[in-house]
Amino acid sequence: MKEAIHPGARYYGALTLPLYDTAVLNIAVPYGWGVPLSHERSMYDRLLSRRHLDIGVATGYFIRRTLRDHTGPQHITLMDLNENATRYAAEKLKRFDVVQTVGDALQPFPVRGPFDSIAMFHLLHCMPGTIAEKAIAFDHAIDVLAPGGVCFGASVTPAGRSLNPFGRAVLAGSNRSGALNNAHDDHDALRAEIEHRFTNTKIECHGVMTLWEARNPR
Ligand SMILES: C[S@@+](CC[C@H](N)C(=O)[O-])C[C@H]1O[C@@H](n2cnc3c(N)ncnc32)[C@H](O)[C@@H]1O
Repeated sequence: MKEAIHPGARYYGALTLPLYDTAVLNIAVPYGWGVPLSHERSMYDRLLSRRHLDIGVATGYFIRRTLRDHTGPQHITLMDLNENATRYAAEKLKRFDVVQTVGDALQPFPVRGPFDSIAMFHLLHCMPGTIAEKAIAFDHAIDVLAPGGVCFGASVTPAGRSLNPFGRAVLAGSNRSGALNNAHDDHDALRAEIEHRFTNTKIECHGVMTLWEARNPR
C-alpha cells in the first residue's frame, strides 16, 4: 500500500499524525500561508452538514472541532488515499456514524452519496499534477453531491505570490520531499476550474491560500 501512494499522501502515519494539528494547522497555516486558522474553522462551522464527505482527512481536526458539542445524528464519510489517516480520524470521531474509505480523489469516489457537504481541505496542494489535472477531483465530487449541496475547500496556491521567509522555507522543503506538490499552483487557474464546474461560487485568497465554496454544478 505505502509504495503505491504518492508522497503527498505517504507521510501520514503513527508518528506524524499526532504532530499534524500543531505543526501544520497551528504553525504553517497562519505563519507560513498567512491564513488565520479561525477563518478556516469558521468555514467548517458554517458548511459542515449532517451528511458530510471529507476527502483527505489527516486527523479530522476541523470536523472534530466543529462537532465538539454536537449530540444529534451525524453521518460522516472519511476518504483518504492513506488508510492511516482514515483510521486515525475515525477513532477520534467514533461517537458519530462514520464510514471510512480508502480512495484517490483523482478517481471516481468509492463512496455512497449523496452528500450535502463535501470538504477538500488542504488536499489539492498535496496532489501531483497541474491545477487542471487536480481539478478532476471536482468532477468526482459532483457525482456524489446532493442537489443544493456545497463543495468547499482550501489549497495553498503560491505561484506568482510573495511569501515570507518561513513560508518560502516550508514551501521549498515540502515540495522537495513531495509532501506538497504545489509550487506551480496558481489561484486564478484554480478559480477558473471551479467556476467552470459550478454556477454559484465564493472564492477568496487569504495569504497564499485559495478558499472556496461551490454550489450548483453546471
Ligand atoms: C494536508 S492533509 C489535510 C488534512 C485535513 N483535510 C486538514 O485540512 O487538516 C492532506 C490529506 O490528503 C490525503 N491525500 C493526499 N493525496 C490524496 C489523494 N489523491 N486522494 C485522497 N487523499 C489524498 C493525505 O493522505 C492527507 O491525509
